[in-house]
Amino acid sequence: MSKSTETMEKIVALCRRRGFIFGSSEIYGGIGGFWDYGPLGVELKRNIKDCWWNDMIHNPPPGPNGRTFQMVGVDCSIIMNPKVWEASGHVGGFADPMRKCDGCGHFVREDQLWEILASDSKWLDSLLQVFTPVTGSIDSPRLLNWAKSKGRKLAPNLALVRNPEVTLSWLASRVNGQPDAPPTVQEICQYVATEQLHQTGLQDPCPRCGNPLGPAAPFKLMFESHTGIEQNEGSKVYLRPETAQGIFVNFKNVMDSTRVKIPFGIGQIGKAFRNEITPRNYTFRSREFEHMEIEFFCNPKESMVWYEFWRDVRIKWYESLGIKSDKLRPREQGEDELAHYSDACTDIEYMFPFADEPQELEGVAHRGNFDLSAHGKASKGKENAFAVMDDSEQNRDRKGAGSSPARFVPHVIEPSAGVDRFTLAAITEAYSFDENRASPEFMKFHPRLAPIKAAVFPLVAKDGMPEIAEPIYQEIRKQFTCRYDAKQSIGKRYARMDEAGTPFCFTIDSQTKEDGTVTVRNRDDASQDRIDKSRCLQYLRDKLGL
Ligand code: GAP
Repeated sequence: MSKSTETMEKIVALCRRRGFIFGSSEIYGGIGGFWDYGPLGVELKRNIKDCWWNDMIHNPPPGPNGRTFQMVGVDCSIIMNPKVWEASGHVGGFADPMRKCDGCGHFVREDQLWEILASDSKWLDSLLQVFTPVTGSIDSPRLLNWAKSKGRKLAPNLALVRNPEVTLSWLASRVNGQPDAPPTVQEICQYVATEQLHQTGLQDPCPRCGNPLGPAAPFKLMFESHTGIEQNEGSKVYLRPETAQGIFVNFKNVMDSTRVKIPFGIGQIGKAFRNEITPRNYTFRSREFEHMEIEFFCNPKESMVWYEFWRDVRIKWYESLGIKSDKLRPREQGEDELAHYSDACTDIEYMFPFADEPQELEGVAHRGNFDLSAHGKASKGKENAFAVMDDSEQNRDRKGAGSSPARFVPHVIEPSAGVDRFTLAAITEAYSFDENRASPEFMKFHPRLAPIKAAVFPLVAKDGMPEIAEPIYQEIRKQFTCRYDAKQSIGKRYARMDEAGTPFCFTIDSQTKEDGTVTVRNRDDASQDRIDKSRCLQYLRDKLGL
C-alpha cells in the first residue's frame, strides 16, 4: 500500500471514529456518493461556511482600486422552474461522456478511464507486476502463466485471458517492431484487450473485468423529480446542480430591492446535486454537496481586472485558513478547455493525499455575459433584458459630451467553491502524526476552523475540582465551542481533544486550589503553561485571535 493511501485510510478511520464524517444510511449498507457529517464534522463545515460568508459577503477585501464594493447574499430554492435549466444549457448539455462495459455492466467516464485504470484496476495492477513496459521485451511464458492463473480471476473478459496466444502475438509484434520505443501503460492496456486487431483496431479495456468498452454516450447528470400528483414530462423538475443559476435569475430582484450598483456581487451557500457516475475519493466527488458561489457583476471593460482580483483573493483566503501555499496550485485553463463564452478560468487545485496530481478545490471563471443574456432571451425575449446603465467614469464623460448613455449586460466573474471539498482539504491538511507524542494522531486545524476551540477538565472528579472547572467552562462556552470532560485519565482526555483538533485544554488540579492557577495545554506541541483561572477566556481570545 502506498504511503498516501495509508494516510488517507488513517484519515478516513479517524473521521469515522471521532464523528467527523459517516457514510449516509450506513446501517442499511450506505449509498454511494452520499455522506453524513457527525458532531465534529458539522461544526467544521459550519465554521468554513461562516468564514466564507464573513470574509466574502460581510467583509470582503477592498477592490482592485482600493475602494470597498458591495456584496449581498441570497438563499434560493433547490427546485426551480425547469425553464431555468433549459436556458442555462444544463438540460441540453450537462452530461458526462460514458462508456459501458458489456462484460460486467460497469460504466466508466470517458475522460477518467486512464486515470481509473492507473489507480483503481486490480487486474492491471497485477499484470504490471509481470510485465515491465520499460524493458521493451516481452516474457511470453510469464504473461501466459498470468493469463491462466491470476488473469482468469481478476479479468475474465480480457482478450489476453480469453485468447492468450493471439493477443500475445499482437503485443509481441508491437514490442519487437519498435525495440527503441517500449509501449506505454496505455498501449499495454489496449493490446491486452484486443483480439481482432485488424477488425476492431486497438480496444480500451474495462478497469473491472477487462472486456472492451463500448463507445462513449452522454449521461445526464441532473437528478430528476416531479411536482404535484401527476408524474409525467409536464411535471418534471430538477434538483439544482449548482447554486449559481438561482443568483442569475434573481439579478433584477436584487438590483431592484437593494441599493447595489455595478460592480457588486451576490453570494449563495447551499446544496447542489449531481448524479455523478463514479463518486469517489471519499467526499471529493459526491452526489450531494454544498456550493459557496459568488456571481460578481461588473462592467465588461473592467472584467479582466475583477477576474484577476477574485482569483488572487480566493487563493489568499485558503492560505489564511491554514492551507499551505505549496499544496495549492492555481491552474489557468487552456484555450481548448474554456467554455465558448468564457475569456478565462482558473482552477484552484489542492494536493490531496489520494491523488498524484493536485485536484480542483474551486473554479474562478470569467463567464462574460452568457448567463444574464441567456436568461434575458429565454424569459423576456431579449438578450439585453438585464442590461444596466453604464455608470463608469469614462461613460459619464461621454454623456457630458452629448452622446446618449450607453447600457451593457454585466459581465460575470464566478468564484465557485465546494464546501465539502474544502472540508476534506482542511481535514487532510490538519491531519498530523507524531509517534513521539502520547497521542500520535492529532488535527492541527486553523483556530477559525477548529470544531471545538477549548476543553475544560477537572484532573479528578472530586476534591472540589469540578466546582472550580464548571464555572470556567460555563464562561468559555458563551463565546466559543467548548467541552467539559471529567472522565478517564487526563492523557486519554487530551488524546481525544487532539483528535478533534481542539487548540487548548484547561486543567484544574490540586495546585489550582492553592494558588488559583490552571494548566493550559497547547495541542500543537503539547506544551503546558500555567495561568490564573480568571484569565482562561481572555487567554483563548488572545491565542485564537478570534
Ligand atoms: N457554477 C459553476 C460550477 O458549478 P463546478 O466546477 O462544476 O462549477 C464548482 O463546481 C465547485 O464545486 C468545484 O470546484 C468543487 O469544489 C465543487 N464540486 C463540484 N462537483 C462536486 C462533487 N460532485 N462533489 C463535491 N464537490 C463538487
